Amino acid sequence: MSEKLLVTGAAGKLGRSVVAYLVEEFGIDPADIVAGTRDPAKLDDVGPGGVAVRTVDFDKPDDLATAFAGIDRLLIVSSDAIGTRLAGHKAAVAAATAAGVKGIVYTSAPNPHGASHPLIFAGDHAGTEAAIFESGLPYRILRNYWYHENLLRTLPPVLKSGAWYTAEAPGTRVAYVAREDCARAAAAALVRPWDHDKAVYDITGGEALTIEEVAALATKALGKPINVVHLSPETLASALKVAGVPEFVVALTLSMDATNSAGLLSTPSDAVEQLTGREPRPLSAFFEVNRAAFVG
Ligand SMILES: NC(=O)c1ccc[n+]([C@@H]2O[C@H](COP(=O)([O-])OP(=O)(O)OC[C@H]3O[C@@H](n4cnc5c(N)ncnc54)[C@H](OP(=O)(O)O)[C@@H]3O)[C@@H](O)[C@H]2O)c1
Repeated sequence: MSEKLLVTGAAGKLGRSVVAYLVEEFGIDPADIVAGTRDPAKLDDVGPGGVAVRTVDFDKPDDLATAFAGIDRLLIVSSDAIGTRLAGHKAAVAAATAAGVKGIVYTSAPNPHGASHPLIFAGDHAGTEAAIFESGLPYRILRNYWYHENLLRTLPPVLKSGAWYTAEAPGTRVAYVAREDCARAAAAALVRPWDHDKAVYDITGGEALTIEEVAALATKALGKPINVVHLSPETLASALKVAGVPEFVVALTLSMDATNSAGLLSTPSDAVEQLTGREPRPLSAFFEVNRAAFVG
């Protein structure tokens, strides 16, 4: 009998792609897939293909037992509720354990453990990983590095002004990864044969780039010059506040820069290729494909 797979957050960008990869690339029978989401109406297009849709909301823990009934392998897509999501993630792990789920895949962040971690949301992921470790279930933790797609938010003002202000220490390298490669790796992690796996993967791109190298790739693809300016965290924070950037975004930006500077994303791994059999997409391709989104 085939295993039943459930993907939480299936209406999100990553979750939706995972469901598509399961069917289209890994040949999983749609009847063996359940797409979980807070709002099933958002997945009206998925149901007709034979994928079942169930309500999964980490903030409604009493309903999770029903949601996970009969599921063999579960992908928990971390929610986007930074700072408030840990209780819900823990509830999902507890409900999965109680429901007899045989293995959990979780989308985490670059090594989130350790006291005084520079990343403001590291605790959400460290706590969730700990709950999974303590569950005793087999797991595959996918520590996704920063998506290429984050640049769709960061770069437009940079392209407009020509200046890229950063609190990253000069020489910092980051192994950005395409969200689609994270999705493909997550689908692969669900379906690759499970023994009693207890595995942690760093899901990275194939190259670690300095911010100047990222800027040069963007300039080459988009035709806009970019001057990278390294500032102290204090100076960058003041400049962002003066520019009206919300306090939470300032804190998030500085914490990600500090995490990068600490070298926590500086080492590319071969996990994407190991899991999916394909090399990760390069950042240069991301700029080419998304040219219109950047320059209109
Ligand atoms: N590595 C990176 O650079 C990076 C960047 C951005 C985000 N992330 C993380 O990766 C996740 C997936 O990325 P994405 O691009 O797909 O983000 P997204 O499109 O913004 O999706 C947000 C996700 O959060 C889920 N969610 C929110 N509240 C939930 C709840 N109460 N219970 C269950 N699920 C809940 C949503 O599920 P439904 O809408 O289907 O209920 C959806 O899957 C994000 O949620 C975030 O944790 C990582």
